[in-house]
Amino acid sequence: EPLTLRPADTSLGGYPHYLIKEIHEQPRVLARIARERLDGARQLADLIRHSYGTFLVGCGTAGYAALCGSYLFSRIARRHVNAVIASEFKYQEHFLTDRSLVIALTQSGETIDVIEAVHAAKRRGATVAALVNVTGSTVARLADFTIPLSAGPEQSVLSTKAYTAKLAILLLTAHILNGSEHVGLDTLWRAIEGMEMALAPATLDRIRAVADRLVDAQHCYVIGRGLSYPTALEAALKIKEVTYIHAEGFAGGELKHGVIALIEDGSPCLVFSPLDETRADILSGAMEVRSRGGWVIGISPEPDEAFHVHIPVADVGDASPLVSIVPAQLLAYELAVRRGLDPDKPRNLAKSVTVK
Ligand code: AGP
Repeated sequence: EPLTLRPADTSLGGYPHYLIKEIHEQPRVLARIARERLDGARQLADLIRHSYGTFLVGCGTAGYAALCGSYLFSRIARRHVNAVIASEFKYQEHFLTDRSLVIALTQSGETIDVIEAVHAAKRRGATVAALVNVTGSTVARLADFTIPLSAGPEQSVLSTKAYTAKLAILLLTAHILNGSEHVGLDTLWRAIEGMEMALAPATLDRIRAVADRLVDAQHCYVIGRGLSYPTALEAALKIKEVTYIHAEGFAGGELKHGVIALIEDGSPCLVFSPLDETRADILSGAMEVRSRGGWVIGISPEPDEAFHVHIPVADVGDASPLVSIVPAQLLAYELAVRRGLDPDKPRNLAKSVTVK
């Protein structure tokens, strides 16, 4: 795969900020992946098939993509793939062998924690694959096999299109492993349509109304289960890193193990509730929050009595993480703008954490 460099589109393209531009670029990025990255996903599936122990590693948003990948491989291909936060990986390298496969997920390819995890993998003779957006980066050069994310330059410090690009490649790879490549492609195209819906003015109006209500919030809770648990973590990261609201994501089942003690009158709680096996349980969790005074925002294909506000998203099955994250990305952006913050350059953060 010649790592061709596309002409870098670093203009704002008429958008007020890179973040909102890059959120809107996601359907096009996924369409490019559907058209151009199938062969890479087939090769990655082959590497996984022949490995004894596969580990997805990444930091921050990429770490949540890794976690989501482990759910996708389990659900679609019945394959156990580990997800490990890259900065913790080198403390666990003892189980690696020369039959292990380490898949590094990184937009920049320069994150020091990911580079160190890759070095740890190579020390143990493991094979290293990488899903990376910046071709020619350190991780891309260290990896034995690289799939470019084809997302184009991601200028905002917040990672959005690189996140959904990783999920798209992992979704295709899981379906290829399962022998259902065409289902994977169909699902990805349905996700692209679902993303277009999530970016439509009607949905945006509801998100803006939520942003108006949350503009002075101090805390925000985000819950999801199963495939939506990584989505909850990623949604919380988007909100906290650009609005400075203390947002935390939790597995829905963890509410009763302490989290519910935090819920006060008016506490905002985002609930991800796709129409899958998690629905009944996540809705009962939402009800628990509501009955204690929490203000519940449901991101779901269907409304429910547990929701004070319903943000509709398309029902896209296994691809729900690719679509459900878009309203959360938009909410983070709208909140940052209302709070007078720079959506592209949050305080204390760098686009790539290249030093310890
Ligand atoms: C994501 O919005 C953050 N900017 C941050 O968590 C980022 O995902 C993390 O630093 C990893 O960066 P990478 O993908 O370039 O390795």
